[in-house]
Amino acid sequence: MVLGILGSGSGSNMQAILDAIDAGTLDARIALVLSDNPDAFILERARQRGIETGVIDCGGFKTKFPEQAQAATAARLKAAGVELVCLAGFLRLVKCPLLDAFPRRIINIHPALLPAFPGLEAWTQALAAGVAETGCTVHFVDEGMDTGPIIVQEAVPVLADDTPATLHARIQVLEHRLYPEAIARVNAEMLKTETLK
Ligand code: GAR
Repeated sequence: MVLGILGSGSGSNMQAILDAIDAGTLDARIALVLSDNPDAFILERARQRGIETGVIDCGGFKTKFPEQAQAATAARLKAAGVELVCLAGFLRLVKCPLLDAFPRRIINIHPALLPAFPGLEAWTQALAAGVAETGCTVHFVDEGMDTGPIIVQEAVPVLADDTPATLHARIQVLEHRLYPEAIARVNAEMLKTETLK
């Protein structure tokens, strides 16, 4: 399966996907990595692996993902032959026309047990709410913010002495196992659908 990755940050989840591919537990290839942040480490990691990269030009908007930029992103992903788009720490809301270009073919990893704590810094939200456990969720992306159908989720305990950093680090250990597993599951479903056609 040909993957395209969108990320805004360090890219440790993309690294986990690459590691699973290297280990033979995920039958996939990353064809293209795009970021809205030209300085994001995810781009450097991809370049080091010889993966094609690109910067999404959001026209100077800090959080908005303008329609034109979404169309350009869709065109680039299509040109690279991408079959499944994986958001890996991508911090802008994906909407149409990008969603239309990849119906039920865009997935996201979120650091909380959705529907709890959607949006930014979910681990900080969980700490502030005083919950006993939080976790991580992989889900299909729809028009909402972290609202699409859930593929898999798993819990992580919140410890009494947790800081935002320690809690996020514990969630990330789980993310790095869960995201490749979820992609493999989606891949299997896609293959089944193809066979049934
Ligand atoms: C991950 O924890 C991911 O779940 C989160 O950003 C981090 C990216 O880390 N995503 C969101 O909060 C999206 N709402 P990474 O760049 O090292 O993969």
